[in-house]
Amino acid sequence: MTRGLSVRDVDVRELMDDPQADERMLARTYGRFGFINAVVSRPGRIYRRDIRPRAAGARPLRILDIGAGGGDLCRFLAGRLRHDGIEAEITALDSDERAIRWAAAHDRGAGVRYRCALSTELADAGETFDVVLSNHVLHHLDDRELRTVLDDSRRLLAPGGLAAHHDIARGRAAYASFAAVTGLLSRNLLADSFIRVDGLLSIRRSYTATELAAIVTPDWEVRRGVPARVELRLEL
Ligand SMILES: C[S@@+](CC[C@H](N)C(=O)[O-])C[C@H]1O[C@@H](n2cnc3c(N)ncnc32)[C@H](O)[C@@H]1O
Repeated sequence: MTRGLSVRDVDVRELMDDPQADERMLARTYGRFGFINAVVSRPGRIYRRDIRPRAAGARPLRILDIGAGGGDLCRFLAGRLRHDGIEAEITALDSDERAIRWAAAHDRGAGVRYRCALSTELADAGETFDVVLSNHVLHHLDDRELRTVLDDSRRLLAPGGLAAHHDIARGRAAYASFAAVTGLLSRNLLADSFIRVDGLLSIRRSYTATELAAIVTPDWEVRRGVPARVELRLEL
């Protein structure tokens, strides 16, 4: 790991988090998350491993995606669930109104519910879900916010529920490969978006599995995955 990646760089701020961010570039960024996630986040595996096996229980299956961004994971899951004839209610939650507006306008018949709020508001209201997910959100948080989101996740789980938070794991290989691939795509597929710059900043902000293990309570399992992935998991 280079010196620059040996510690979490919590002082860098992603361009998409700037309230003054260029609207057109922000919209293109939300629109490209689906491509990035298809490559690195393995949504099909999330569905097969964590969602479909729970279909035998609660109906409708209630799923919450915290920090849903452009909502692509929710739409993907909605499509798979519909295909498999599984009744579900999927909530895409984001604290950024711009993300929720964009995602709601691009639902394309998926039937996802879009809400602008923090997870704490839902937990305080006593709402519960069978599956609580997030993807690429942990690195946006400081240690205190991370503990809050994990606490909220636990409170939001119905009996027998699963919380699974997925993110990039900081490291030299992750940084170098993301820089190489997005460098090739920066003038075409990723042009006029924040994906390349923010992705590299994200990796600098990301936790390693070891750092997460030192923060979370022992009931959270820390899993390493490929490519350069980390997952925090709690099953009630
Ligand atoms: C990098 S985006 C990831 C979006 C999406 N999950 C994906 O995988 O493409 C992170 C999103 O998390 C949201 N976010 C950050 N902290 C949050 C919090 N405490 N509660 C809800 N949303 C949050 C941001 O507004 C942003 O839209």
